[in-house]
Amino acid sequence: MAYNDFNMDSHWLPFTPNRHFRKEPRVFVAADGMQFTTHDGRQVIDGISSLWCVGAGHNRKPINEAIKKQLDTLDYATAFQASNDQAFLAAEKIAAMAPGDLNKVLFCNSGSEAADTSLKVALAYHRARGEGHRNVFIGREKGYHGVGFGGMSVGGIPANRKVYGTALLPRVDHLRFIHDPANAWIHNQEPESKEDFLLELENRILPLHDPSNVAAIIVEPVAGSAGWYLPPKGYLKRLREICDKHGILLIFDEVITGFGRMGTNFGADFYGVVPDMLNFAKCVTNGVIPLGGVICRDKIYDQMMKTDAPEHIIEFFHGYTYSGHPVACAAAVATLDLYQKEGLFPRAAEMGKVLGDAFHSTLKGLPNVVGIRSLGLAAAVELAPIAGTPGKRAYDIFIDCFKKGALVRPAGDVVVIAPPYIVEKSHIDQLVNTLADSIRRNA
Ligand SMILES: Cc1ncc(COP(=O)(O)O)c(C=O)c1O
Repeated sequence: MAYNDFNMDSHWLPFTPNRHFRKEPRVFVAADGMQFTTHDGRQVIDGISSLWCVGAGHNRKPINEAIKKQLDTLDYATAFQASNDQAFLAAEKIAAMAPGDLNKVLFCNSGSEAADTSLKVALAYHRARGEGHRNVFIGREKGYHGVGFGGMSVGGIPANRKVYGTALLPRVDHLRFIHDPANAWIHNQEPESKEDFLLELENRILPLHDPSNVAAIIVEPVAGSAGWYLPPKGYLKRLREICDKHGILLIFDEVITGFGRMGTNFGADFYGVVPDMLNFAKCVTNGVIPLGGVICRDKIYDQMMKTDAPEHIIEFFHGYTYSGHPVACAAAVATLDLYQKEGLFPRAAEMGKVLGDAFHSTLKGLPNVVGIRSLGLAAAVELAPIAGTPGKRAYDIFIDCFKKGALVRPAGDVVVIAPPYIVEKSHIDQLVNTLADSIRRNA
């Protein structure tokens, strides 16, 4: 197929520089395993699990078959005042995988919806227990929680926020970012920092708002979209303790770290910290069909059910037409079975070490490389920006790698590789060597 076999006039691409894209389109027409086929017949290796989604690799028959079967059995059914068998099955499986008493799953369709859902649950829960004044949310600088107004407000990526002004939620504050420049080189282990990144929360942010007004703190266990920035050892445990001390709900946004990226079911397992709510999406269906959700601790659900309202009254006025869509839930059940059957989470842990070793041995010392961070099955190389044009170097490298047959992810002046869990050492070598050559070419 040639470029001009499709018309580019109608599709406005998301989070994409559309003007440049039209000059050099990157269009996939097929995928299998680790590889894409592009519209111009080239093979491109998927170095980013297609935006952290495709843990089991592309075109997995058990998932495809489950979807086809579900379509022929129950294609769709209303999600309100009724449900479907697949939604219960998927919720049971997800709750069983989640740590502690994270047992109640509220489905939605994306990470953005999960963020907004979790913030709404926090407000409704506090109100139900007589603390409706708790309406301050705390996110973190460089955090990403999608593009809804709630998620964007607690998010901390400036470009995503800057044109929305007063439309952002009021009464939101942000924790400082977790990166310690002294920890530029992180090699397959949790960084340790002399700095206390939570001191400001205790000494300034909480006193300013008064802890009794704070509804929830939301963080990604690892800052994924910002460029794979890792929390210092003990950070999340201490955040949990601070939340407990003040009755603040802790929300983990595990849209990236959930379902295997850290080699464990969730980042919560990797770090040994149970949040009050855990947001998921992406890998839950191997990216094949949109599905997201929020897993809530029992105490939240129980509180919401403890109401004097008559039984015909809805306890939580929230939901989406496609919440718990039967086809998406059937895809989730098949995906989670496949991860388990093929031992893909332990494999992610194992291959993460191989990826981290390759990054450090191949990229350290190359021009403009000022840091490398690897942990779980993801690694990031931090580059010195081109003076006056931040983000350009990583973008140019992304374009160049694509031309050489590798899909990598630029984030500011960071380039991230986070392959599917089925990745082999030969794929890692191809990805990292392509990236290394490109870093040299773009010096
Ligand atoms: C941590 C996190 N939360 C939320 C989102 C938003 O998810 P979606 O694009 O499915 O709305 C993302 C997407 O990358 C994410 O990484």
